Amino acid sequence: MDSILALMTLEEKLGQLNQPGGPGADTGPAQRAGSEEDVRAGRIGSFLGVHGAANTRSLQRIAVEESRLGIPLLFAYDVIHGFRTIFPVPLAEAASFDPEAVERASRIAAIEASADGITWTYAPMVDIARDPRWGRVVEGAGEDPYLGSVMAAARVRGFQGDDLSADNTILATAKHFVAYGAAEGGRDYDAADVSERTLREIYLPPFHAAVEAGVGSVMGAFNEVAGTPMHAHDGLIDGLLREEWGWDGILVSDYTGIMELLNHRVAADSAEAGALALRAGVDVDMISRIYLRHGAALVADGRVDEGIIDDAVRRVLRAKYDLGLFDDPYRYADPARTDSLTLRPEFVQHARDLARKSIVLLKNEPVNGSPLLPLRKDLGTIAVIGTLAADSVSALGSWAGAGRPRDAVPILDGIRQAVSPGTEVLYAPGAPVEEIDRSGFEEALRIARAADVVVLVVGEDREMSAEARNRSDLGLPGVQQELVEAVHATGTPVVTVLTNGRPLAIPWLAENAQALVEAWYLGIQMGPAVADVLFGDYNPAGRLPVTFPRATGQVPIYYNHKSTGRPPTEDRYTSKYIDVHWTPQYPFGYGLSYTTFAYGAPRLSARSIEAGDSIVVTVDVTNTGPREGDEVVQLYVRDDVASITPAVRRLRGFRRITLRPGETRTVSFTLHPRDLAFWNAAMRLVVEPGSFTVMVGGNSQDVQQVQFQVTGPVFELGP
Ligand code: GLC
Repeated sequence: MDSILALMTLEEKLGQLNQPGGPGADTGPAQRAGSEEDVRAGRIGSFLGVHGAANTRSLQRIAVEESRLGIPLLFAYDVIHGFRTIFPVPLAEAASFDPEAVERASRIAAIEASADGITWTYAPMVDIARDPRWGRVVEGAGEDPYLGSVMAAARVRGFQGDDLSADNTILATAKHFVAYGAAEGGRDYDAADVSERTLREIYLPPFHAAVEAGVGSVMGAFNEVAGTPMHAHDGLIDGLLREEWGWDGILVSDYTGIMELLNHRVAADSAEAGALALRAGVDVDMISRIYLRHGAALVADGRVDEGIIDDAVRRVLRAKYDLGLFDDPYRYADPARTDSLTLRPEFVQHARDLARKSIVLLKNEPVNGSPLLPLRKDLGTIAVIGTLAADSVSALGSWAGAGRPRDAVPILDGIRQAVSPGTEVLYAPGAPVEEIDRSGFEEALRIARAADVVVLVVGEDREMSAEARNRSDLGLPGVQQELVEAVHATGTPVVTVLTNGRPLAIPWLAENAQALVEAWYLGIQMGPAVADVLFGDYNPAGRLPVTFPRATGQVPIYYNHKSTGRPPTEDRYTSKYIDVHWTPQYPFGYGLSYTTFAYGAPRLSARSIEAGDSIVVTVDVTNTGPREGDEVVQLYVRDDVASITPAVRRLRGFRRITLRPGETRTVSFTLHPRDLAFWNAAMRLVVEPGSFTVMVGGNSQDVQQVQFQVTGPVFELGP
């Protein structure tokens, strides 16, 4: 890299740090697109939102053959949960608790995206989210740092493979660094006022997991953390990410994050904003063109050392080298590959498999003596009700890459394709998702009365979650709740299917639904996957990666909370509300099956270990029901007494296993010191002696416990 760097003028260096959008690539406030002339003049190092083998080849040719130094371009795009084969939204993927399946989905996304000229994806989004009012909870892996870390690493491996120079792997980006999900009020872009300990215990672990998995890029977050905007946070970028963790990849701004330092009111003008960002360690300036416009003057005035710019350029050049672009700048821009590597049947099949694994069965009550689900395929008449049942756009979810609604099969079509030839499937939208319009109720109730069973699909459309899509009320939008109650009042058995991008507050359904299925946004195979579950071709085993509250006012509510000085009980003077029970509607890790499972008492490899040693937890799990099914065996740990208030439990292991009826499987987990450690008063990562409680079960609440002792002096772990 240094040989190229030595040839570069300062303007050319700043050009490598400049990332405009392509025409129409706005994923935020409108912006000026990068031009061919900019490329020719060496003023662009990468593009946001440009893809297509022909498009990228054309721009790459200008960069390589017409600019002075011929440095190839990077092409970045938000390939979040698929490129053309769209998989379930990441929150749904997390509900699968199947990291191997999630890794393969990211692998497929990289194959399709790289065949379309893309070399850099702005994924995985690894933000922990404890406030479901926040629209972007849909984009991550939920509320838990351990699950979030496992999924972050799986997605990085999927995108980057084990050889970035291969023509079907792309640079991944862990985003948004950091604590974006802690925005006050669940309001996107708002301030995050979190302690260093909360950062290290909750929000940083998934980034650390991505770094350990070799992630090549990290994106800054729009928010401030305790007074310092992340795009100016040298303590967390240069200090923690680069020095403490030893990470040396590309730190890219998020959209106009550098310009927004003016809105944060920590910079008086664009030049100052650019100086703050460069000195904090932000390498690439997405969209705002501040580095390009002010960089030379900042160096000339001594406000920014050129060495900082050299370091940033060196990281960009190394990524281009690692991707093999200096060997063959056109390797990702081959139209012949695009067609042969897009929407392959095995990709679509994986989309269906992962979608089925992501569905969570929340309720399944007896109707006429047996559980309502699974349904028979040869029923006389099935009434499908709900606008979202026929909504192919929402099925794809937000951040759907280059996904096309016409490639998606919505729930209604999935049901129609699944039923027996003699079964009649009626459809009525019933009510719009958001508007207050009851004009469709009459037709919906007519077909409900005429049917043997109703499949009622309600929730949010995809424009109600994702970036800048925060909700102040987690209830069903519009008049859907009225429709739900009216349909149930017909007396026809009702299966309610939720499609949504966040936990909802659905107390009426939790109380009155006969069957309730959480289907999120499952991608192009949403319809077949939902039908597979409703008709029993697949036994659901998804588990909630986020807590469902009873009411919006309970938020934030999450499983790994603190005990407090007055843990909630029926006594008056304890931590709870007077108008809603203190427990969640559905806890983290919760989900039902069409079969049942029983757990033996957990067994330990020792009753006492030295601080710094590991311990093995073993449990027997039996399928005690009538059919084969998956169970997600979950392991939680509590430090019973510590020098810092411990969480009531922390997920420290999970295993999705398949059991035949009557089969028993012995599952073992090893707890390492890192699993028992916490950040003490001196902000050191330690294992303290004392009692620990191990909990094992099928969700975060219904567990069997066993205790062990840790002895000896405090054991300190490295960073
Ligand atoms: C958006 C998002 C970020 C995305 C970027 C580029 O503002 O915050 O996640 O990667 O812009 O599209």
